[in-house]
Amino acid sequence: MRMSARQFPDGFLWGAATAAYQIEGAWQEDGKGLSIWDTFSHTPGKVHHGDTGDVATDSYHRYPQDIEMMRRLGVGAYRFSVSWPRILPTGRGSSVSSEVNLKGLDYYGRLVDALLDAGITPVPTLYHWDLPQELQDELGGWAGRDTAAAFAEYAGIVAEALGDRVHHWITLNEPWVVSNVGYRWGRHAPGHEDAAEAVAANHHLLLAHGLAVSAIRAAAPSPVEVGITLNLAVQRPTSPEAADMAAELEARHNGVYLGPLFAGGYPERLTAEWSPAKVPGLVHDGDLEVIAAPVDFLGVNYYFPGYVGVAATDGQPRAGERPLQGEAGFVEVQPEGLPITAMNWLVEPTSFRELLTRVVTPVTGDLPVYITENGSSWYDYVTQDGRVEDYERLSYLQGHLGALLDAIADGANVRGYFAWSLLDNFEWAEGYAKRFGLTFVDFGTQRRILKRSGEYYARVTAANALVE
Ligand code: FCB
Repeated sequence: MRMSARQFPDGFLWGAATAAYQIEGAWQEDGKGLSIWDTFSHTPGKVHHGDTGDVATDSYHRYPQDIEMMRRLGVGAYRFSVSWPRILPTGRGSSVSSEVNLKGLDYYGRLVDALLDAGITPVPTLYHWDLPQELQDELGGWAGRDTAAAFAEYAGIVAEALGDRVHHWITLNEPWVVSNVGYRWGRHAPGHEDAAEAVAANHHLLLAHGLAVSAIRAAAPSPVEVGITLNLAVQRPTSPEAADMAAELEARHNGVYLGPLFAGGYPERLTAEWSPAKVPGLVHDGDLEVIAAPVDFLGVNYYFPGYVGVAATDGQPRAGERPLQGEAGFVEVQPEGLPITAMNWLVEPTSFRELLTRVVTPVTGDLPVYITENGSSWYDYVTQDGRVEDYERLSYLQGHLGALLDAIADGANVRGYFAWSLLDNFEWAEGYAKRFGLTFVDFGTQRRILKRSGEYYARVTAANALVE
């Protein structure tokens, strides 16, 4: 029996997402300053294969081609990010100062105009990980409190310049990754391994978000909607003995953001290495009020669930297990039978539904939620007749859109979905080896090919339904 298409709500927003450092290239062009990712990727041994974002998909020059791919996908919105050091090469400056790099602002102005001409709503993110290097060197980056104030100034400058045409703003992308992968474990820029810095960075990111919400509202010349994007997680214990650790991991991923943003403060449960109490004096009077500034929507990025188990008594990982970083006695588990992507990420659409239904909706209630990223990486290749038949990605997309419909039926107020990613790009520490695009990019020639999954997504956006 053929299943009939399942409809999404009227007005559902379909989009695709990217981020500046992953696609723009032009790392030294038109007055741009250096970011911590320029430095990090140029440091031998930090990124797979020594890849850098120097050229990436060259979208600084080729954005018209990117918009053409958006048209083919039929998306109504584009989530991109603004490179802070393109606007303020040293990271700091005020709207009237000569520190503002007008050529950088002009690039985003042209991009926004071209999107609007194509009938596509621009949804910029103001921070997707490319911190100006000078703020890292002088203020300690996010571990330093002054970086939060600098971010709010920068946010105001961009909102003032583009706010007549841009009405949806995302302050930060995934503060969990910034603080933990960047400052606790060192696998991302700036490459530090310091738990106290990570805790401080986390608080300052939240503070930066809150300050930026007001700065954007104050600077934009027309009404705006402002939100933040979080990567939230479902953590499942594989035995009752692991339940407590699963709850702790959820507090680190979810509660540490949802609490201060929406529920009055940091969660009670957070072990010492993850608690703001680790850094005496970190939280100033009034910070929590700033962080809780009302937002207009929440952005949620979802990729995969976590399974946590108790390690074998001999300490040796069993099949499908690897040590849980920083937590002796516990393991991450890959349950038998769940597919796994090229990133080693589990594929389990039901946990996407669970995330929205159990974790997000009880906290956000009626607040609109946008899925600001979701997607998967596979080892794509071009066939002899020039096609990319990425059925794994198509099936991931189909499964997750189905789970999203289920969550909406459960009562989740999800208003839109942005596929990660519009096109293959620089996947951070994995360089160009991991492809997430609905569009294939030949990085030698910059040729773009719409993948089979992209053709499928175009049918979904046209029908506003989960088609076969
Ligand atoms: C997210 C990032 C995004 C991309 C995807 C795969 O954590 O926000 O830039 O790298 O993962």
